[in-house]
Amino acid sequence: MSADFSFLAERPELRFADSIKDARPLILVRPDALEVQLASLPQAQADFVRAQGFGAAAGAVVLLPGATGVAGALLGLGDAQACERVRFALSLAATALPEGAWQLQGDLRQDALYEAALGWLLAGYRFARYAPDAPPKARLVCPEGLDRARLEAMAAGEAFTRDLINTPASDMGPDELEAAIRLLADHHGAQVSTISGDDLLTQNFPMIHAVGRASPRTPRLIDLRWGESGPTLTLVGKGVCFDTGGLNLKPGASMGLMKKDMGGAATVLGLTHMIMQLGLKLRLRVLIPAVENAVSGDSFRPGDILISRKGLSVEVNNTDAEGRLVLADALALADEECPDLLICMATLTGAARVALGPDLPPFYTDDDALAAALSKAAQAAADPLWRMPFWAPYESKIEPGIADLDNAPSGGMAGSITAALFLRRFVTQTPRFAHFDIYGWQPAPAPARSRGGVGQGARAILTALPEVLL
Ligand code: BES
Ligand code: ZN
Ligand code: ZN
Repeated sequence: MSADFSFLAERPELRFADSIKDARPLILVRPDALEVQLASLPQAQADFVRAQGFGAAAGAVVLLPGATGVAGALLGLGDAQACERVRFALSLAATALPEGAWQLQGDLRQDALYEAALGWLLAGYRFARYAPDAPPKARLVCPEGLDRARLEAMAAGEAFTRDLINTPASDMGPDELEAAIRLLADHHGAQVSTISGDDLLTQNFPMIHAVGRASPRTPRLIDLRWGESGPTLTLVGKGVCFDTGGLNLKPGASMGLMKKDMGGAATVLGLTHMIMQLGLKLRLRVLIPAVENAVSGDSFRPGDILISRKGLSVEVNNTDAEGRLVLADALALADEECPDLLICMATLTGAARVALGPDLPPFYTDDDALAAALSKAAQAAADPLWRMPFWAPYESKIEPGIADLDNAPSGGMAGSITAALFLRRFVTQTPRFAHFDIYGWQPAPAPARSRGGVGQGARAILTALPEVLL
């Protein structure tokens, strides 16, 4: 069991510069104000900038020569359209600038400053477990008015999420996922208990057992608790450490990325780190059904009917719709305690991606105030989300007749909605419930997000908490 998560160790690239002393100016400049800016610089510097063809495009950087090396740099803000199109564009400076501390200068609205500072930290993330990948050496001085501890907690939580997703299933099975959770819990003084293997049957988690039993890597339900007082928040995350599809085997091209099928768990755990690191006054519970959806003689089959923890019978019409099965038993347990807020995160459907693409995860809730707070927080935290409906007229699609529920309605129309409706059947007492159908993967490098695992929604939820819970 290896659990090498350096996010718990010092990772200076995920932090701001400690000292403002010797920090060089990083001057923000709009394309339409470039000439005025250049006029204020010494002639030699202005000529140098002009000679480079610097046009202040979003995230473009040009160094300013000084008597003893680099005196500072200009950072382009781009035009309004560029800022709308590219999230975290200014974070390109983090990798473009030489070693040392840098301090932003110039006018920037508070929200843009927040995005720039957060993006800078996120741009420092590297996954170097299997091959060296040196992080950038330029450090930003935390801009005035921003909450340094909060931004650093967000960056560390996001790094944890990415590490968990990027680690291949060979080193991130249910056992290793549990080890990582225990490491996180130890770091913050949280309690962890686990129900695994046949105990899942005796303690009534039949669907977690059914999905995970084909793998020699024991399925389990991991249960973390933290916090003594305050409102109760329960987070549930899909922890399918690898999704072959089961007997309804995925074709090769679709299986390739399925180490990321624990992205819901990873994102929930990144959020858990943020909450604990910031010492929020709430009682937190985190439930992770951790399984591998494998193929063997013991696999659950198409046509099987499972009796869930809640007592609802479920016809398995596709063993590849396994996420909703393991989540249903975990959500039923969460619901028994009736927390003030229940949040579920899962790489649940390909249909969510067809609808909104990899960068904009849908979320579902019946609570309009919660939805409004999440949408506002998503904007503020540079963590986009889009509300989709628990569309009751589609309830009939998940009712197969032979059992209470169908895990994979034929035709697949509205696949993300029917999956969400399926989950909602298991939450009947909790006043506020939200489900996030995330992708958890950055397909191509973008500012502040290298290709690979990525957290989605955690910062938005963290940002919404004061309004909805605290
Ligand atoms: N883990 C997948 C969903 C997924 C696929 C998320 C690709 C992100 C990218 C999930 O277990 C799954 O296979 N869902 C099926 C459900 C269907 C069989 C009803 C899907 O979305 O195709
Ligand atoms: Zn699947
Ligand atoms: Zn899956």
